[in-house]
Amino acid sequence: MKGIVLAGGTGTRLHPITKAISKQTVPIYDKPMIYYPLSVLMLADIKEILIISTPRDIETFRTLLEDGKQIGVSISYTIQDQPLGIAEAFIIAQQFIGHDTVALVLGDNIFYGYELDVILQEASQRKSGATIFGCMVEHPEDFGVVEFDTKFNVISIEEKPKVPKSHFAVPGLYFYDNEVVEIAKNITPSPRGELEITSVNNEYLRRGKLKVELFPKRVVWMDTGTYKALLKASNFVEKVQTTQGIYIGCLEEVAYKKGYITKEQLRGLAGTLLSTEYGTHLMQLVMGDNNGKF
Ligand code: DAU
Repeated sequence: MKGIVLAGGTGTRLHPITKAISKQTVPIYDKPMIYYPLSVLMLADIKEILIISTPRDIETFRTLLEDGKQIGVSISYTIQDQPLGIAEAFIIAQQFIGHDTVALVLGDNIFYGYELDVILQEASQRKSGATIFGCMVEHPEDFGVVEFDTKFNVISIEEKPKVPKSHFAVPGLYFYDNEVVEIAKNITPSPRGELEITSVNNEYLRRGKLKVELFPKRVVWMDTGTYKALLKASNFVEKVQTTQGIYIGCLEEVAYKKGYITKEQLRGLAGTLLSTEYGTHLMQLVMGDNNGKF
């Protein structure tokens, strides 16, 4: 399976923070935002990754993440000229996807939870259809929302409905078979002029090939679209890391635990970061006193 991180857009809801820099490079506590969604793809066992961003920001990501070899994956980069919709990612990435299945994660979404990797790996191993997730939220009107019938079958997904039919929002993490490319090419832009990911999901639903998995309560999903959401996410990461010693979105750690890099390579990466708690954490992993926690 291939993986895409969509990290473009205008970031207007976070101006002036994002007036001159990419939203997905803004820090969430101790690391750039994109580390979190990228780590999610790695946890799903995906090693071939494409980052899509704006013509202005793409080089920033290349500087930050290079070709991915240092963390045992392959990262390539391409641009989206204008933010014409999330589903455009599959058209832009057609060559990269080839005949493979593909996962898409939004560059501003954060996921964390016990055994999240198991959920992700199951989704990434499916060869046919689409897997998306549902997560209980207070304000579903800000998201794609799942509508269920009385037997909890999915009837439709609605994009930012004024009157949501449930409290289950669809997070920005999607797993598809290869048909997604043709589907993305054939959906029509929404009234706001975007190729909506919700239209793609509704087409899979129409074909009887959409699986909506509700996240268990132990999985936390955070969107980082507003100042308050940014602060909340940073506070959450700080708290988990400081009180439990479990790092969220730590690419080097995921790479090491997945066996993508050796202990010596991890030591090398940690060595360049020793003036930070992040680097100390990596060095503790090298020394083997992390209690085997993720
Ligand atoms: O966060 C989950 C939600 O993401 C879903 O529930 C919605 O169904 C989905 O439409 C999306 O809603 P948002 O309003 O959050 O989408 P937004 O336009 O903010 O874009 C999400 C991220 O994708 C953001 O980091 C910018 C990036 N993006 C977006 C568009 C439309 C691009 O890189 N290119 C684009 O064309």
